[in-house]
Amino acid sequence: MNIPTKKLKNGFELPVYGLGLWEMGGRWEADNSQDKREVIAIRAAIDAGVTHLDTAESYGKGHAEELLARAIEGYDRSKLVIATKVSAWNQTYDGLRRSFDASLKRLKTEYVDLYLLHRYPESGIPIKETMRAMDELVEQGVVKNIGVCNMSVSRFVETQKHTAKKLVCNQLHYNVKYREVEHMGVLKFCQDNDVLLCAWRPLQKGALSDTSILVELAKKYGKTPNQVAINWLISQPSVVTIPKTSNLDHLQENLGAVGWSMDAADIELIRREFPDQQPVSDAVPLDYEADIEP
Ligand SMILES: NC(=O)c1ccc[n+]([C@@H]2O[C@H](COP(=O)([O-])OP(=O)(O)OC[C@H]3O[C@@H](n4cnc5c(N)ncnc54)[C@H](OP(=O)(O)O)[C@@H]3O)[C@@H](O)[C@H]2O)c1
Repeated sequence: MNIPTKKLKNGFELPVYGLGLWEMGGRWEADNSQDKREVIAIRAAIDAGVTHLDTAESYGKGHAEELLARAIEGYDRSKLVIATKVSAWNQTYDGLRRSFDASLKRLKTEYVDLYLLHRYPESGIPIKETMRAMDELVEQGVVKNIGVCNMSVSRFVETQKHTAKKLVCNQLHYNVKYREVEHMGVLKFCQDNDVLLCAWRPLQKGALSDTSILVELAKKYGKTPNQVAINWLISQPSVVTIPKTSNLDHLQENLGAVGWSMDAADIELIRREFPDQQPVSDAVPLDYEADIEP
């Protein structure tokens, strides 16, 4: 299928639906036990039209990147958008350069389409130094675009100050239940400043599907609750998402979230009425302002 994209004024675009790789190849340590199944799942996603593939140096301690390398072998590299991330503790100038080289080696590719700061640099690492390394990678042509994750508006603005390149995206915890990006003004900032908000944990790991409002709307549109949850996210201007699945049935289900629209009134209904909304992420809360070190 042809997955629609959202495009910035500078021409950078991301498909509304990409594949997340967290928990493929292990969690914080490498786990080889599911390699075959996970490579098949990534390939199935690409065969179905997915081009944005999101990983990180920390996923499975690098093993997710190795699996991705195996999965993309034989595909047209120019059609893929490979995104990976450098961990907060590796964001000194030398650390970042080392991390990037290691990621590139594991990914067995010549360049990364989107290189992201996984968080704001750890305390003691000046953001200026981090961004000098990021800029050099862009100038060398080995990184095509740069972005960030888990940044409040003030951190995003501070980071942007230290690079002449545009930060094209901020990747954040966002779904029908977890609304920190709305409460903290990050969604509005992205929409007003031509930045893509890439929503992670869009399905809250499958925990949303029994919620009656999703069940009702799913009936109305002939979809599943998970499809409604993903569709709601990508119906917001500037928002794209990256659900993770290594299950082929889930992949088919999730892709069914793309290519149709809910009525504006139903989008608004979920925004207002979704029960037990959480103003702060249960995984990576944004409110860690004290650490900013210009
Ligand atoms: N930048 C960051 O700090 C950050 C943080 C977290 C995540 N991320 C990125 O965002 C991606 C997505 O987030 P996430 O993986 O945490 O959460 P998620 O996509 O909301 O949920 C993934 C989990 O839900 C299951 N699932 C997927 N589709 C399903 C379906 N249709 N029905 C039932 N269960 C389903 C998956 O299991 P199966 O594999 O069995 O389907 C997996 O356990 C990550 O993979 C990662 O790439 C980034």
